[in-house]
Amino acid sequence: MAETIILGIESSCDETAAAVVADGQEVLSNIVASQVELHKRYGGVVPELAARAHIEKIIPVLREALDKSQVKPEALAAIAVANCPGLTPALLIGVTAAKTLAWAWQKPLIAVNHVHGHLQSVMLEQQKDCFPAVALVVSGGHTSIYYCQGPLELELLGRTLDDAAGEAFDKVATILKLPYPGGPSIEKLSREGDPRAIRFPRTYLEKDSLNFSFSGVKTAVLYHCRGQNMLGQDRVPHMSQKEKADIAASFQAAVVEVLVKKTLMAARQRNVNTILLGGGVAANNCLRVELEQQCHQAGKKLIVSSKKYCTDNAAMVAGLAYHKLQVGQIADLGLEARAQSS
Ligand code: KG4
Ligand code: ZN
Repeated sequence: MAETIILGIESSCDETAAAVVADGQEVLSNIVASQVELHKRYGGVVPELAARAHIEKIIPVLREALDKSQVKPEALAAIAVANCPGLTPALLIGVTAAKTLAWAWQKPLIAVNHVHGHLQSVMLEQQKDCFPAVALVVSGGHTSIYYCQGPLELELLGRTLDDAAGEAFDKVATILKLPYPGGPSIEKLSREGDPRAIRFPRTYLEKDSLNFSFSGVKTAVLYHCRGQNMLGQDRVPHMSQKEKADIAASFQAAVVEVLVKKTLMAARQRNVNTILLGGGVAANNCLRVELEQQCHQAGKKLIVSSKKYCTDNAAMVAGLAYHKLQVGQIADLGLEARAQSS
């Protein structure tokens, strides 16, 4: 049977990405141009700079993705793009590129929710039976738990009420004056630290709640470093490497504990045996190992995105678009970029 090959485009934040994926799983090419160097000196992503960089990178990235896959435009079944959620000026570049190609090559256009794409990334290159499942998606902008009956049948069970988990990692890295992006820096430093050194707060909210809140733990780290109410001097420049490592490891342990407990609670509430983990923070080894151990103890199966598909990429966009194409969920050329999920 002929394969269904889709070109995916992703530009929701600071990665310009394009990928060619066959039948929702087989990744024929996956090109990601990172803007880390550009945003480093600002300590975070500047939306207008991101958009300008996407404009420069989108055509070379698309060309490279097609060249590497050795797929000709005629062989594509559709053009897919993440159109929400994200930074609107950044999303707009990918959406405009996708609409232009869909129109020029006369292909169906498929709109993908970026967060749902992260969830789909667990299915890339894995022939596994995933559903029904509870999925944890942890990224820089989102921390969400879904009940999933299929790739497109997602019910949001809980989400963060303030900072996303990745955002908390990034902010704590800034407090500790670690290099941007913060998540990988915290993970690296944590390896030298003791996760039990400081008992940072774990926020569980009301009983049985599957929502998250990470602003409390972030503020606790800030107070630990600068004194209550920020009245003391910043101690970080005078701290030893070990002291900083203890803070990083203790913070990471607090965040991971809440993520793992709530995910398992969701699986119990919905009586499912499979748990999926995706999103940028899913690259974190402490989270992967802890969730694996807890799933094992609870007799649940864990399916995790491979590391290369945890952070933003377009393979997850093309992967999810395959399922949308199967059921005829086609967008029109009036498709808009949206900051929020729709
Ligand atoms: O999914 P993603 O690439 O972009 C968004 O959709 O936001 O996630 C980026 C986030 C950043 O906050 C980054 O610090 C975090 O994922 N991250 C990590 C790790 N790698 C990336 N957080 C903790 N540990 C990591 N190893
Ligand atoms: Zn993302």
